[in-house]
Formats: sequence, C-alpha cells, structure tokens
Amino acid sequence: MSQPDTKHLIGLLLGAEEDWPRAFEELLARVGPIRTADGDKHEVSVQRLTIEPFDLRQDVHPDLVIDRLAYWYYHPREWLKKAALVNGTYLLNSPFTFQSMEKHSAYCAMLRLGLKVPQTVLVPYKHPVDNSRWAYTAAKYNRAFDLDTIAEKLGYPLFMKPFDGGGWRGVSRVRNRDELHRAYDDSGEMLMHLQESIEGYDVFARSLTVGAETMVMNFRPELPMHDRYAVSHDFLTAETGAEVLAISRLINAFFRWEFNSCEVLVRGTEVYPIDYANGCPDIAITSLHYYFPWAISALLKWSLFCTVTGRRPRLDLETAKYFEIADSDRTYAEKLTAYAALSETYFQTGRYTEFCASVLPDMDDIVREWVGSPEFDAVLVDTVRATYPQAEHERFLAHFRGLLGLWKTDNAI
Ligand SMILES: Nc1ncnc2c1ncn2[C@@H]1O[C@H](COP(=O)(O)OP(=O)(O)OP(=O)(O)O)[C@@H](O)[C@H]1O
Ligand SMILES: [Mg+2]
Repeated sequence: MSQPDTKHLIGLLLGAEEDWPRAFEELLARVGPIRTADGDKHEVSVQRLTIEPFDLRQDVHPDLVIDRLAYWYYHPREWLKKAALVNGTYLLNSPFTFQSMEKHSAYCAMLRLGLKVPQTVLVPYKHPVDNSRWAYTAAKYNRAFDLDTIAEKLGYPLFMKPFDGGGWRGVSRVRNRDELHRAYDDSGEMLMHLQESIEGYDVFARSLTVGAETMVMNFRPELPMHDRYAVSHDFLTAETGAEVLAISRLINAFFRWEFNSCEVLVRGTEVYPIDYANGCPDIAITSLHYYFPWAISALLKWSLFCTVTGRRPRLDLETAKYFEIADSDRTYAEKLTAYAALSETYFQTGRYTEFCASVLPDMDDIVREWVGSPEFDAVLVDTVRATYPQAEHERFLAHFRGLLGLWKTDNAI
C-alpha cells in the first residue's frame, strides 16, 4: 500500500507587501507536489496568516512561518514565541534571536569574533525614557560625560545611529561639533551609537541571505531605491568576495538568522561590517529587480528544505564553539575558514545542496518559465501601480522590465 502524502503548511505573517507573497504563492503552485528520494510525496501549501486572539494551548497549523511583523508589533511577535515554545514551529526569523540580538549585539559578536567593526561607542539616552523611576535613576546615577571628547576620539565625520537601527531612522552623518549636538539633542529617547565613519570606501556590498544561500550585491545607498542595487557580477575581487560571503554566513549562523541582509564597506582590501541585523530585509521587486527571481526561489527552496526534511529549529547559540576559534592563535583568514565550517554545519549546506539537486531538479526551469510568464509580469505591473504616481508608471515599468529582461537573458539555457 502506498503511503499517504505528507502535508505541510507554510504560513506568511505579512505587512503591507503584496509583490513577494504573490510571487512566492505562484512559484510554489508551479513547483507542485514534491517527491523525495525515498519515494514519499509531500504536498506543501501556503497560507497568509491573520492576527487574532489565541489560546496559548491552541495548535499552530503551519510547520514554518516566514515573518515580517515581529520587528514592529507585539501581538504577532508573542504569537511567534508561543508557536516556537509550545508548538515547535520553524520560524524565519525567530524573535528569540532577532528581538534580543539587534544591531548592537551583532557589533559585539563581530568584535568578539575578530572582525573589523569600526570604532563604536554607545551613549546614554539624551532624554530619560518616559518613566518616573528612570528619571530618578538617571538623575542619581547617570555619570556626566563629554560628548565632544568621545566624538573627537572617533574623529569627524562620524555616524550617529540608533543601537537597534533599521530603515535609516535617526541615522546622521555628523561633520562637526554643532551637528554632533544637534543630532544628539534630536535623538530624544532613542539610544544612540556614535561610530567612526569609513570614509572614501570603494564599494558598498549588501548581502541577502536566505538559509544556506547568500547573494552579495553592489549597493549604492545614495541613489533612489529602484537604483540602489547595481547589476554587476565582478565588483569585488575573488578574495574580497569570499571574505564578504564568509562574514555574512558567519554572523547568520552565529545568531541563527536565516533571512537577513548584511552590509559591509570595502576600502582597498579591507572589509568593514557596518550593519548585520535586518530581521525584515527588503525583498521588494522594485528594489531587487534583477535579483528578485533569485530571492523568491531561494526563499521557497529553503522553506521546502526545512519543511520536507523536518529540519528542527536550533536556538542554542553554541557560542563557545565560535569563541574557541576567536581565541585561537589563527590568523584572520584562518579564522574565517574555521568559522565557515561552523556556518556550513548550522545551515546543513551540503544536505541543502543535495536536496535542491535531487528533490527540486527542475527548479531553475520552473523559475525561468515563471519569470517569462504573464502572471509574473502582472505582479510587476500591479506593484509599480501601487508604488509610484501614475505619471511614472510607464517609465518604471520599462525600467524594471529591462532589468528582468536582462535576468532572462543571463539565465537562458
Ligand atoms: N560607519 C559608517 N561608515 C560609513 N557609512 C556609514 C557608516 N554607518 C552607516 N553608514 C551609512 O549610513 C547608512 C545607514 O546606516 P545603517 O545601515 O547602520 O542604518 P539602518 O537604519 O540600518 O539603515 P538600512 O535600513 O538602510 O540598512 C548606511 O547604509 C551607510 O550608507
Ligand atoms: Mg543598514
């Protein structure tokens, strides 16, 4: 008697986005049921989750949830924690590692692991948070400090930015004393880092990671959103490219972050990490364009790998294993190599690659066909209409169709 199909459910906890969820749903429908090497058949479906009262003992139906809300909202965040603790649901990402380990923690971990984080100082709140007891504590125990001395030690220009960061909120490039004080006064109840600026960098590399896959992209933060990712393939030397990849994988494996974007500035042969914690990375078609098909297929492949193989969430950070390498007398390059082995173990890179090759052998063809289909174009058209003023629709459609056309050419058989 043949075994009944195993059913899996992927839940999407969504904000305002429509483009990638629709793309994800369409691509999953095209992939269809999955047959593993042992002959078992898996049916995977996807559902957009709703926010509603929940009993802490209630079942959670999805095996895996891709979350886009926990960073901002308590209710879905607490539901995710319940799902992780009570039901063992697989989460991309888990609030247990993302909520507690934001940008500041990533700097600390990177420092401890021997990476080249720019000089960074955390200063107390400009205004005590709105809590009468904190006002008392601050008045009694906050030690007076000289902001100018800290800034002069770091040197101008410097960056002032919130310790938990995201979306350029509260980020300023400070060129002198006046700007320093203005920025600090404006920071109010935000907790701020002062950070040495990496001036005159050659390249800004932004890496998007989905599970065991990482794409390193040439990012130009000074341009408008639709132009920030350049389509360029050899913008780093092989050596620097490998270093950027190794650092991204290391930090993601270290914190168990499986859906994240990381930023480094490259000056000469030096690689400086500046932002390694983005729990809700941008994957809009209007910013990723050329890289969008890769991002959606990686998200789908990783979700299928986790659900179909029954990969379990692993929140134990095992920091000692990493610190043992950090504390050894290996060189920087040797440490990166040793860390890479830990990253591969965490992400089961070998097993994932094998899974994609044997269980999803047609994936590239399916993605190619999908990107060439009217359904894919409809996602683009609807997104452009929802994103830009009417007078700009034609221009942007031509722009993104051009870039996706380039993807089609580059990925043609
Ligand atoms: N130390 C630095 N040296 C040079 N440039 C920096 C530095 N820190 C930040 N920047 C610039 O400021 C921008 C915003 O900083 P950062 O990425 O830390 O903030 P964010 O709020 O996380 O922004 P985003 O959401 O765009 O990643 C960076 O993209 C970079 O252009
Ligand atoms: Mg950033």
